[in-house]
Amino acid sequence: MLNKVPIIDIAARYKTVEKEINESVLSVLKSGQFILGPEVSKLEEEAAEYIGVKHAVGVASGTDALHLALRAYGIGEGDEVITTPFTFIATVEAIVYTGAKPVLVDILPDSYNIDPDQIEKKINEKTKAIIPVHMYGQAADMDSIWELAQKYGLKVIEDAAQAFGGEYRDKKLSGIGHVGCTSFFPTKNLGGAGDGGMVFTNDEKVAGQVRMLRVHGSKDKYVHQIVGYNSRLDSLQAAVVRVHLRHLDEWNDLRRQHASKYNSLLKGNEKIVLPKELDQNKHVYHLYSVRVKEREKCQRFLGEKGVSTAIHYPIPAFEQESFRYLGYKDKDLPVCSEVSEEVLSLPMFPELKDEQTEYVCKCLLEYLG
Ligand SMILES: Cc1ncc(COP(=O)(O)O)c(C=O)c1O
Repeated sequence: MLNKVPIIDIAARYKTVEKEINESVLSVLKSGQFILGPEVSKLEEEAAEYIGVKHAVGVASGTDALHLALRAYGIGEGDEVITTPFTFIATVEAIVYTGAKPVLVDILPDSYNIDPDQIEKKINEKTKAIIPVHMYGQAADMDSIWELAQKYGLKVIEDAAQAFGGEYRDKKLSGIGHVGCTSFFPTKNLGGAGDGGMVFTNDEKVAGQVRMLRVHGSKDKYVHQIVGYNSRLDSLQAAVVRVHLRHLDEWNDLRRQHASKYNSLLKGNEKIVLPKELDQNKHVYHLYSVRVKEREKCQRFLGEKGVSTAIHYPIPAFEQESFRYLGYKDKDLPVCSEVSEEVLSLPMFPELKDEQTEYVCKCLLEYLG
């Protein structure tokens, strides 16, 4: 029914690739090989080629990808890692898992990504890395971040969980920093049918460390050089993600088409701020988030019309109870606080129909008056 527009429809994605998925999954079931194994190795090869890096290492989640990448660089107690508070909480948690301190800096008002000018002010002798997050599917300012990293000898670990297939100056995200991390959480642009994640790098040593860390710190079975984790990607996830990877460009193009339709139908209304795709970026619209005052009222109105929306994310990391110990105050990161109060994600998924986008815009414009 037209007047029911979900924010995302994962079952619709399955329908478009049902036959391929069923065949791949069945072949894994028949093989009896469920943890890592040939299916994961094939995905690693294909994904590394897609991103344009030498090594890809499959792990159990996007959170683990970040955590293991940080550990692979020996980052831990006494160190500081700079990142954005405008992200899913996992980015900040991954830093804490290592024993390092997350240092949060404000975002830019146009892209909602980390502000490089704010980064430099927070760099000191303890700083070891910067984690830019390519929020909503659009790249952070990687030239400025890379320049700072070179100047101060820092590692750049991209959090591209929301941006698989996105580009910055024609280079694929995850392949620009020292390491790139992604998530195969089902709702992501390159989602699986459960949890999963991947680390990308050209650094052979780091790839080797992550390979060890994901299997209890071991290179050879039952020989453990370092204390690691159980963070293995399973073969069924790899089988599903391999199929999805073959369709990803087509799906990302559809997301871009929907975004462009939203932009053209909503443009010119002063009461709403639309997403801005910066010139150097290819945005892949994991989320299409607008900004609107009195957002909850707007969300309720749309909900009553059958349009599902969501808030990514209502409470910035530094305002979360779990991170209160970091000692930030309300006005410390004003852009992030303001944006967090106004963002509202509209329905966005490749299979969205034109009539649905039109209906969402009609309802939203009716609300805005
Ligand atoms: C920006 C960002 N970073 C990290 C993650 C963590 O990924 P996962 O849920 O696979 O652990 C997510 C998604 O959930 C995310 O959106």
